[in-house]
Amino acid sequence: MRVVFLAPSYPPEMIQYTRGLAEVGAQVFGVGDTPREGLPKEVRPHLFDYLQVPRIMDEPDVMDRVSNWLRRRDIDRVLTNWEPLVLLAARLRERWGMPGMSVDTALGFRDKEIMKERVRAAGLRVPRSRRVKTESEVRAAAEEIGFPLILKPIAGAGSADTYRVTDSADLDHAILATRGVPEASCEEYVEGEEFTFDTVCIDGKPAYENVAAYLPKPIEMRSIEWISPVIITVRDMYQPRLMPGVELGRKVLDALGMTDGFTHMEWFLTPKGEAVFGEIGGRPGGAHIVDQMNYTSDIDLFREWARVVCWKTFEAETRRKYNCGIVFKRALGRGRITRIDGLGDWLHAAGEALVEERLLRPGTPRRNWKHTLLSDGHVILRHPDWDEAYRLSFAAATGIQMYAE
Ligand SMILES: Nc1ncnc2c1ncn2[C@@H]1O[C@H](COP(=O)(O)OP(=O)(O)OP(=O)(O)O)[C@@H](O)[C@H]1O
Ligand SMILES: [Mg+2]
Repeated sequence: MRVVFLAPSYPPEMIQYTRGLAEVGAQVFGVGDTPREGLPKEVRPHLFDYLQVPRIMDEPDVMDRVSNWLRRRDIDRVLTNWEPLVLLAARLRERWGMPGMSVDTALGFRDKEIMKERVRAAGLRVPRSRRVKTESEVRAAAEEIGFPLILKPIAGAGSADTYRVTDSADLDHAILATRGVPEASCEEYVEGEEFTFDTVCIDGKPAYENVAAYLPKPIEMRSIEWISPVIITVRDMYQPRLMPGVELGRKVLDALGMTDGFTHMEWFLTPKGEAVFGEIGGRPGGAHIVDQMNYTSDIDLFREWARVVCWKTFEAETRRKYNCGIVFKRALGRGRITRIDGLGDWLHAAGEALVEERLLRPGTPRRNWKHTLLSDGHVILRHPDWDEAYRLSFAAATGIQMYAE
């Protein structure tokens, strides 16, 4: 099994997928823009070969270079788990006539309007929306959809350039702020709680499923600095309250023609108990959600994903043992971390429930919380009981405070 894996060492969790591929018996041909000498030592033993390209986002250039590089070798798979490269991987597969998701199918996981059109066409509940390019299109769409609405890039990630608009002053501001965005989606704002629906699929059918709760909704996590974002996987994900989301998620996979691999969907649970589609990616969620899923069931989805995409089998035990919470912290002040308060007490309270403590240490420069949900570090905990996992997560959110100057 010879696998081309795009971006095998960046973002950092890709190292784990590279390892997974090697562990299930694949020869991994990595392609990335990290210089060969700069590859992290953890990834090297798992790479069979590596091609450094000048710009990994330059699709035509990467396609030519990879084609030249592999000229005399038979390749069985072209894969990536990083959102910006999902279409490039599909284009390479198409050029070489390989199995796996087609360009057209990949578009349904990447372009938010095509995605919603396909999900809507399957009769599923999707926010009303319009594709908009110019200011006058935004204004016309806003007129039609009404306030509150959401204005966001068609191919966005990380809630970047995503705005909630409640009146015409907000609209003016959002139009100004999204000036650099070539194409946007203007949509009805859906009230309610927000969850994920994550899967590892074989032929579009989940071999593994997960639901996690966003506390609060990502748009708030990403726009209010003092918030410590919390995400908790739900051990009892098949409870009646959440089943509409699970059922919606499975139907979305059918509607979009999912093949093999990870998906990460976001959905809303309205006050009336209805599940509404948010968005979906044909790749895993970021910000450690795969680690959380692993801790939920004591499994290794990095390797199971690899087994699925190479051999179409999934061997891990999917029984859910824990609710696993992650809490991202943001320091007060700018510059370098100077102090962490309340950590000792929280660690004591968490006891056996603690899984990881990775807060940035004093002396380390702060991360840009707008650029990465990882912010200034995190703690991960797990507990079989939801209320306890929730309580400990919020104890970290409110009880641990970091400072910087
Ligand atoms: N129609 C909507 N109604 C209510 N909230 C919305 C809507 N669309 C987006 N949001 C909020 O904005 C967030 C970001 O939107 P979306 O997930 O589409 O963009 P993204 O940039 O791909 O996000 P990310 O990479 O953070 O998942 C959502 O998680 C949700 O909190
Ligand atoms: Mg999103």
